[in-house]
Amino acid sequence: MAAVSAAPVIRADLSEAHPRPSGAATEGEAHEVETDRHGMPIHPGKTLGEPVVVLKDVRKAYLLDGGASVDVLKGISLSLDTDPRDGTPSEFYPIREGEFVLLRGASGQGKTTLCNCIGAIDSVTGGSIELFGEVLDAKAADSERTLADLRLRKIGWVFQSFQLLGALSAFENVELPMSVLGELSKQERTARAKMLLAMVGLEDRISHLPSELSGGEQQRVAIARSLANAPRLMLLDEAVADLDTRNQVAVMNLLLRINLERKVTMIMVTHDPHLECYADRILYIRDGRIEAQQINAKQTPLDAEAHAAFLAAEG
Ligand SMILES: Nc1ncnc2c1ncn2[C@@H]1O[C@H](COP(=O)(O)OP(=O)(O)O)[C@@H](O)[C@H]1O
Ligand SMILES: [Mg+2]
Repeated sequence: MAAVSAAPVIRADLSEAHPRPSGAATEGEAHEVETDRHGMPIHPGKTLGEPVVVLKDVRKAYLLDGGASVDVLKGISLSLDTDPRDGTPSEFYPIREGEFVLLRGASGQGKTTLCNCIGAIDSVTGGSIELFGEVLDAKAADSERTLADLRLRKIGWVFQSFQLLGALSAFENVELPMSVLGELSKQERTARAKMLLAMVGLEDRISHLPSELSGGEQQRVAIARSLANAPRLMLLDEAVADLDTRNQVAVMNLLLRINLERKVTMIMVTHDPHLECYADRILYIRDGRIEAQQINAKQTPLDAEAHAAFLAAEG
C-alpha cells in the first residue's frame, strides 16, 4: 500500500480565461484529494494504473523558411522527477493508465503540437517523451519503423475532421488498421469490425460510405476504427468540435464508456469548458507550457437535453 498524505491538489485559483463548466463536477470550491506517496491523487471510485505517458522538459521548435525558428513547446513536464534542490515532486505528474486527460487552452497555444508529439506523428526537438516505456526524443525521430509500429499498435487517433477514407464503407474503414497490422484472419477482422461498429451504435450502417453518414455517425466510425487494434491510448484532437450539441454529448458519453469499461487512457484536446466534467484531470496549456492543472474528483456525463437547454439559455 502506498503511504497516503493529504496534500491539497485541486486548485481554485484558475484564471478567468478558463471559465467553469456547466453542471460539472469541477464546479465550485476547491477541495482536498488524498494523494499517494508520489503526490498523485487517489481518485475516489477509480483506480488508475502505472504512468504510461511521461514528459520531461519537452520542447518543439519549427524551422521557418529563411532559417528563423519558432518555439512552440517550451518545456513541458509530466513526471515524477523531484526537484534536486528540495526533493519536492514536480507539480505535474505523468499520465496514468486509464486516466482521461483533457488538454485545454486557447487556439495557437501548442495543444495539437503536443498531441502530435505524444502520438509519434511529430518529433520533439528537445527533452523526451516516454510512451509505454518507449523513449521518444529528438534521436528517436530517425527510427521511423519503431514509431510506425508504436502508432499502429498502441495509439488510436481521432481527429476533428473524422478523416475516414471516402471510398471505403464504414466496415472497411474499421477493418483497415487490422489488415495493415496483419495479425487477424479475415474472419476475425470481420467479427471485430462488426463488434466495434455495434459498440458505437452503428450496426445498421456498416455498408454506408462516409458521405452517407451524418457527422456524428462518421465520428463514431472514426472511434470504432481507432479501437481496431485495441490501443492502450486514444488521442483525440478537437474530436467533437465539429458536432452539434447532442452529438457532442453522445460521442463524449461513448468515450467515457470506453475509458471506464476498456480502461483505455485518453488524451483529448478541447477548447470547450463544458466538457471538463468528463476528465480525471484537465491540463491548461498556454504559450507552449502547462499553466495549471485541475483534478476532477469524479467523471460525470452530461445530459444531452439539459446541456442543450443550458447552452440555449446561456445564449
Ligand atoms: N509546421 C509548423 N510550422 C511552423 N509553425 C507551426 C507549425 N505547426 C504549428 N505551428 C505553430 O505552433 C503554434 C501552436 O500551434 P498548435 O499546436 O496547432 O496550437 P493549438 O492546437 O493549441 O491551436 C502556432 O503558433 C502555430 O502557428
Ligand atoms: Mg489544435
